[in-house]
Amino acid sequence: MTNITKTCLFLIMMAFSLSPAFAAKHTPDAAHGKSLHKQKCMGCHDNGQYTRSNRIIHSFEDLRARVKFCDSAANADFSNNDLDDVVEYLNNDFYKFKK
Ligand code: HEC
Repeated sequence: MTNITKTCLFLIMMAFSLSPAFAAKHTPDAAHGKSLHKQKCMGCHDNGQYTRSNRIIHSFEDLRARVKFCDSAANADFSNNDLDDVVEYLNNDFYKFKK
């Protein structure tokens, strides 16, 4: 590799490491999740859905997948961080799965 190539690679890697995709991991914000949920998720079911005796969610992974699915159903268009926040809220208040 020539020095010029090395310098270019170095600059490209620097640019990537500064982009938001590489920023620190999002810390889920349950209060934000709660307000998103109130705005977007009450169209088809209420909170009773999460505590019914025959509920369909049995793990944290199931919960994340279901929220993602219902996000499309609700046309809520949550970002990944929003999904994390809503999952955090539902898990704290209703499901209480270990992560
Ligand atoms: C278009 C209608 C609709 C909207 C809007 C909707 N859901 Fe749902 N959701 C459903 C239905 C239907 C079920 C039950 C599916 C079943 O019983 O098989 C469900 C079930 C769930 C469950 C699982 C409940 C259980 O049994 O443990 C979760 C969690 C959930 N929804 C979260 C959400 C979230 C978060 C939103 C907002 C992004 C949302 N839902 C918006 C239709 C909807």
